[in-house]
Amino acid sequence: MVKIKTCVFISGKGSNLKNLIINSRDNSFPIKINLIICNNKKAYGINYAKKYRIPYIFINTKMKNYENRILLYLKKYKISFICLAGYMRIISEKILNNYRKRIINIHPSLLPKFKGLETFSRVLKSKEIKTGCTVHFVNKKLDSGSTITQKFFYIKTKDNVEDLKKKTQKLEYRAFPEAIIKIFRD
Ligand code: GRF
Repeated sequence: MVKIKTCVFISGKGSNLKNLIINSRDNSFPIKINLIICNNKKAYGINYAKKYRIPYIFINTKMKNYENRILLYLKKYKISFICLAGYMRIISEKILNNYRKRIINIHPSLLPKFKGLETFSRVLKSKEIKTGCTVHFVNKKLDSGSTITQKFFYIKTKDNVEDLKKKTQKLEYRAFPEAIIKIFRD
């Protein structure tokens, strides 16, 4: 099986990156992670790049034209698919145009509810009965591209922000690989 050359973008802890790396080591999983792009030198997730010997680069998103640099690396590594796993920047049209329907993101809410940041506290404040995660295609608007898969759980009255985060992330580790399998199934 020819694996899809994939780049994962991260900014922080990288637990979804770790989960994707482990999944991608299975022969039947459709992608191989050939490159990791990170915009935060302090991101813990970069340790997974080192541990699993995957090429990684830091991008300073404060620099003008930093997206040209990203595109250059994507080309160099012949990347054809991109997973955003806790990457805290908007993807500009420049990159989107090169990767139509080939960039996906994982978001910790049941989109279209609770786009953007601070999802868990907003979920609790609005007294939702359930929440979860969404894997979706990335388009020009924040957290708005079409949904590939969603998973949810029912919120308990005693749940706090940390509880929601833990339960949501547990679902994310199933949802992200499943979404990738779904995209490349045919
Ligand atoms: C995840 O909860 C994801 O939904 C959001 O950012 C978080 C990243 O976590 N987009 P990690 O860095 O993968 O641990």
